[in-house]
Amino acid sequence: MKRQLEIDILTIFPEVVRGPLSESIIGRAVSGGIIELKVHDLRKWSLDRHHKVDDEPYGGGPGMVMKPEPFFSAVRELRRKETRVVLMTPQGRRLQQSMARDYAGNCSHLVILCGHYEGIDHRVVEALVDDEISIGDYVLTNGAVAAAVFVDSVTRLIPGVLGDERSSQEESFAHDEGILEAPCYTRPVEFEGMEVPEILLSGHHEKIAEWKRNRALERTAENRPDLLADDEGGSDSDN
Ligand code: ADE
Repeated sequence: MKRQLEIDILTIFPEVVRGPLSESIIGRAVSGGIIELKVHDLRKWSLDRHHKVDDEPYGGGPGMVMKPEPFFSAVRELRRKETRVVLMTPQGRRLQQSMARDYAGNCSHLVILCGHYEGIDHRVVEALVDDEISIGDYVLTNGAVAAAVFVDSVTRLIPGVLGDERSSQEESFAHDEGILEAPCYTRPVEFEGMEVPEILLSGHHEKIAEWKRNRALERTAENRPDLLADDEGGSDSDN
């Protein structure tokens, strides 16, 4: 299959990104050539004798800030006309399935910058970055973990990556409606006194579909009531 997406990731912890993306479905997409993934050590672009990539913050404050020079050199080397440059940061837009779909469908080359420490010199954001993305409202120790999550969410939506395309069409957030998936079961029918709901064994497709929809709504009301609210809340349907 023809290569569909090329991804360059810039981080000072390459192994953190490589690990999760070298196994299972994404690992096979890479080895099968559907996506091309290159994970670079940002220190390669540091001009400093000791490959330093951070420095103290102007204006004071705790921690260190990532210097602009390595990012500028790296992006200038890697960027092409069609490239989209993404920065993983808790200050970004919160990742939604619709964003993953947009990248999977409309992007052929991604350069992903991973922040570490307290943050990254803002001139990088202003001059180089097209999209700042957060994977959720919490702070991780480094953006490499977030980059692996983002790449996984995008890559699995590329045609040919999942064995069965229905998986990505039926799952939570896949539809405009944006509700969670119904619970699922497999063998055995009875396990430690707990039984698989009888309707799933009935072979009655319409009734099963109705059951799934009701359970999906119940689960959404319990775990993610924000998705059912009328306002824009956390729903994915409007972006
Ligand atoms: N880096 C640290 N925390 C992050 C988050 N929540 N999303 C993206 N990058 C991050």
